[in-house]
Amino acid sequence: MSNLVVLITGANRGIGFELARQYLINGWTVIATCRNLETAVGLVSLKGKFPNKLSIELMDITCPENIKTLAGKLSEENIKLDLIVNNAGYLDRENTSIHTINYANAEMSFKVNSLGPLYLTHCFLPLMNKKRLCKIAVISSAMGSLSLEQSVDWYGYRMSKAAANMLVVNLSKELVNDNVAVVAVHPGWVQTDMGGSTASENVVDSALGVMNVILNLSIDNTGNLYSFNGDELPF
Ligand SMILES: NC(=O)c1ccc[n+]([C@@H]2O[C@H](COP(=O)([O-])OP(=O)(O)OC[C@H]3O[C@@H](n4cnc5c(N)ncnc54)[C@H](OP(=O)(O)O)[C@@H]3O)[C@@H](O)[C@H]2O)c1
Repeated sequence: MSNLVVLITGANRGIGFELARQYLINGWTVIATCRNLETAVGLVSLKGKFPNKLSIELMDITCPENIKTLAGKLSEENIKLDLIVNNAGYLDRENTSIHTINYANAEMSFKVNSLGPLYLTHCFLPLMNKKRLCKIAVISSAMGSLSLEQSVDWYGYRMSKAAANMLVVNLSKELVNDNVAVVAVHPGWVQTDMGGSTASENVVDSALGVMNVILNLSIDNTGNLYSFNGDELPF
């Protein structure tokens, strides 16, 4: 069995939950974060199946103190991470036109999608197991690409995912000599609460694709954006 350790944010539902489930099936130790245990029913039931391999931790990615406190707790427990998956995401659904901008929702997009992963990486980087190649993945979106053809919608989401992509580029350069590889992954249009039931991909295929992209990540291809099907996408 593998002794690899992954921390996944927003692991109580959607893609994050499926990633947690699949990494557990693959023998990984999973630290799954969520905001509310009472609504994390699937995750709690997964804990019953993998009692020694899954730990559930409370963390709101928009709360720097939460992030710092969890990093401190894991450090005291001498946890070493091989992989961080910044998965938690927020979509400002109403901000589809410059004429209808809700500022608080746009701000929330940045807090969850870009500033959260930035501060989380800052706090958890010292916990990474740099004796072997370790990896940071940001579940981004093709909607954050500045060069792909885009329709006009979701201002905060698109802008914050573009910022998350820049986080990946910056990190990849700063950490290239530290045995840490970094990737942005577009998970596809996925049947989750965010993607809706008419989305083209089911959550299992998306999660397995994301895991495959992460598996193929090395220092040689650090700092790129990939689709869950393995295609490299332009930033
Ligand atoms: N679904 C798609 O079609 C699609 C396409 C492209 C990219 N993505 C990206 O894929 C990732 C996962 O999306 P999904 O489809 O699985 O979305 P989802 O089903 O809506 O789940 C979102 C997750 O993020 C968590 N989250 C939201 N705000 C948070 C906060 N302040 N602190 C901590 N966790 C927070 C949610 O926790 P709560 O349950 O507590 O709200 C939930 O676990 C996101 O980054 C999303 O942008 C999705």
